Amino acid sequence: MKFFTILGVAAAFVVICAPETLAAPAATCPKTYTLLPTKGTTVASKAKITEKVLAQLNPKYDCKKIKVGDKLCVQAVGSKAPSSVQSSAAPKCFSWHTISSGESCWSISKDAGITQDNLVKYNPGLNCSTIQPGQKICTAISSAAPSKASTGPTTTPTAFHCTSYYSVKKNDTCWSIWTAFGQTEDKFMANNPGIQCKGLQLGQQVCVATAAGPAPSSASKSSSGATPTPTGKWGCTKLHAIGKDETCWAISQAAKLTLDTFLSYNPGLDCRFLNAGVNVCIAQGAGGSPPPPIPIYTCTKKGTFAITFDDGPYNFTDALLDYLDTQSLKVTFFINGKNFGNIYDYAKTLKKAFDRGHQIAHHTWSHANISTLNEAALRSEITQLEVALRKIIGCIPTYFRPPFGAYNADNLRVLGAMGYKVVVWDVDSEDWLVENLKKEQTNYQNAIKGTTPADSGHISLQHDPHKITSQQLAPWAVDYVKKLGYKVTTVGDCLGDSDPKNWYRP
Ligand SMILES: *[C@@H]1O[C@H](CO)[C@@H](O)[C@H](O)[C@H]1NC(C)=O
Ligand SMILES: *[C@@H]1O[C@H](CO)[C@@H](O)[C@H](O)[C@H]1NC(C)=O
Ligand SMILES: *[C@@H]1O[C@H](CO)[C@@H](O)[C@H](O)[C@H]1NC(C)=O
Ligand SMILES: *[C@@H]1O[C@H](CO)[C@@H](O)[C@H](O)[C@H]1NC(C)=O
Repeated sequence: MKFFTILGVAAAFVVICAPETLAAPAATCPKTYTLLPTKGTTVASKAKITEKVLAQLNPKYDCKKIKVGDKLCVQAVGSKAPSSVQSSAAPKCFSWHTISSGESCWSISKDAGITQDNLVKYNPGLNCSTIQPGQKICTAISSAAPSKASTGPTTTPTAFHCTSYYSVKKNDTCWSIWTAFGQTEDKFMANNPGIQCKGLQLGQQVCVATAAGPAPSSASKSSSGATPTPTGKWGCTKLHAIGKDETCWAISQAAKLTLDTFLSYNPGLDCRFLNAGVNVCIAQGAGGSPPPPIPIYTCTKKGTFAITFDDGPYNFTDALLDYLDTQSLKVTFFINGKNFGNIYDYAKTLKKAFDRGHQIAHHTWSHANISTLNEAALRSEITQLEVALRKIIGCIPTYFRPPFGAYNADNLRVLGAMGYKVVVWDVDSEDWLVENLKKEQTNYQNAIKGTTPADSGHISLQHDPHKITSQQLAPWAVDYVKKLGYKVTTVGDCLGDSDPKNWYRP
């Protein structure tokens, strides 16, 4: 089993801000973009180019190593004329595409629902390094020519018959379907003659499995009708354990998914915070299951700042709550059962926090390093605190934070099965370590340096059982982030999950 630990934002940001610097764009680059502290995917989308083009224009580009302030080239140098596409492709071609600025063979083939290899095959003489806007290239040849109204599968003439159909869902592409059903492009295209990958219709039946031999007469009837043969619930059918130094783009490319499709399979995935060993979904299909939760490191709502307190309640918590009331602020408490104090001794304080509208979340019973626990021990850590929380506040949370920010893939599977979202942090005051207000303030300032409310939100880590934190750091942090223009709020709200009803369950 793989173990990995995240000891706070310092580690996470070090990955992004590794000393290795990106080569400055060539002086000939017609258009550059200076990195802002936002998602790795936005540079490409802002420049209206694909990730692949971005990578091609910036050979040393690495989503994990670039840092705020780096410049990326976002437009190709207009260079020599492309080698022309041989006209021999023309007779067989039934669909031409005119290249627009910023497109690449990769993006064109993805859009056309074909592999880049086939794109090159359809365009003998095509050199993907020298394609130019305005150039016409073939994206489909007659062997895959569509029959006019291809709203249903046509059975292959002889040796094979379709044994399973799939009904096209929103955002499906030919890629995502054949990948989800473990097929090759060639097999999929052969099984669905005339399919128009570019114009897939919602509800369209496509063939996803065939068997040798003539179709049984009863089956042939149903196969021509519109009834699919779903084999189970729609969900994730294939997980991928993130490798060291892998990026969203690399994973999606290896899985033959567009970045958008990959991200739609993994809601909440933040490409800046990929951790080796965490499972992400790379295929969806019938008979799948919900993917395990993806740890959340930062707010999705820009301009929000979720101040969080771990390890309480304890004897400084009550006064902290009164202070927060004076500021009309709501924060998040990640609660332990037995840590600094025993939860039952602080039941009144906990109930007060809950009643005042702060978000109460789970932080294990004993502040265990859950990456060392087997499933039974982890479940016990969780249920023991659930019992106490049901007694004291009458419900249990839907949010969980692993102590030390340490977890492994199996923990995530169990937490997902138990209905928890997993939240870490991206700003660590290190109050648990230093017990020194000055240092804690510096940590805070450094962690959010270079970001603004216009481009980011943050989740910060504090510990209310520490006197300095509850009495000095908390009020300082509130003032500090408010002055920067952030809205102090709960973790749920900063993730767009604003209704407190969603933070708890019976
Ligand atoms: C494509 O063009 C590039 C740049 O001109 C060249 O270096 C490369 O050899 C060409 N590739 C092929 C397969 O012709
Ligand atoms: C489909 O894609 C759009 C745009 O990328 C996205 O907003 C939407 O949530 C996706 N829908 C599903 C069901 O994945
Ligand atoms: C809180 O508990 C600590 C440790 O037991 C104790 O030293 C301290 O005096 C207590 N503080 C208050 C305000 O009760
Ligand atoms: C938690 O356990 C893992 C696995 O044994 C270990 O690598 C990590 O250092 C531990 N973290 C802490 C803070 O103890």
